[in-house]
Amino acid sequence: MTKLAIIGGTGLDKIPDLAILHREVIHTPFGEPSAALTYGKIAESEVAFLPRHGSTHNIPPHRVNYRANLWALQHVGIDTIIAVAAVGGITDQMAPGRIVIPDQIIDYTYGREHTYFDSDLSQVKHIDFTYPYCEGLRQRLIKAGTEMPVPVFKSATYGATQGPRLETAMEVQRLANDGCDIVGMTGMPETSLARELDICYASCAVVANWAAGINDQIVRMSDIERNLKIGMETVRILLANFLTMQSASS
Ligand code: HPA
Repeated sequence: MTKLAIIGGTGLDKIPDLAILHREVIHTPFGEPSAALTYGKIAESEVAFLPRHGSTHNIPPHRVNYRANLWALQHVGIDTIIAVAAVGGITDQMAPGRIVIPDQIIDYTYGREHTYFDSDLSQVKHIDFTYPYCEGLRQRLIKAGTEMPVPVFKSATYGATQGPRLETAMEVQRLANDGCDIVGMTGMPETSLARELDICYASCAVVANWAAGINDQIVRMSDIERNLKIGMETVRILLANFLTMQSASS
């Protein structure tokens, strides 16, 4: 049974290396997931793939049904998720095109359905979220990213913003003051919902642009698209390395 899923973000709505085996439509108590689950093989390992923004990239970050997505994946037996996400770079090393495996999150989102624990109030549940990502999975991703042509950063704090607009320069200053290294719109509540479901979850972030006000230019979509193309190529290699490592160890 497939136990590993990849959630694709902007720039990774499809995985070209995936030899597709079949697709499965899942309905959930929380509504419809972003797309049917696609099962396939990369480097002899079976994975399930779910494009977060839909197969035609028509779901903006604040409209993604994160609860349905994660529930659907767990329902089919997934216990490990690699979440690919595009981000803006805030601190010096987080230059466009680079890959980051974040280890912390600050949540600035609002109004999103963010928990599974809001119906049965006789059993209020609080998850531990001190270390929001699955450390074992993070380490395996970092290992898969060694000796890559582009550096893969081992730690970063991800600031999750509401979107869909990009930030103002002062908002990015505030994120920097808070300790954020990168900024993106989809990290929450995806990460905490995975923890609520006890799914081992780590993120592979691709820096698409310098965040607003970090350099003296405005953020251009054409630059984001160009950098994402380069960054996603690196992610594909990293994922293939990861899956090769995984099939060698199983
Ligand atoms: N801000 C928020 N989300 C993003 C950015 C950004 O600059 N770039 C890619 N996703």
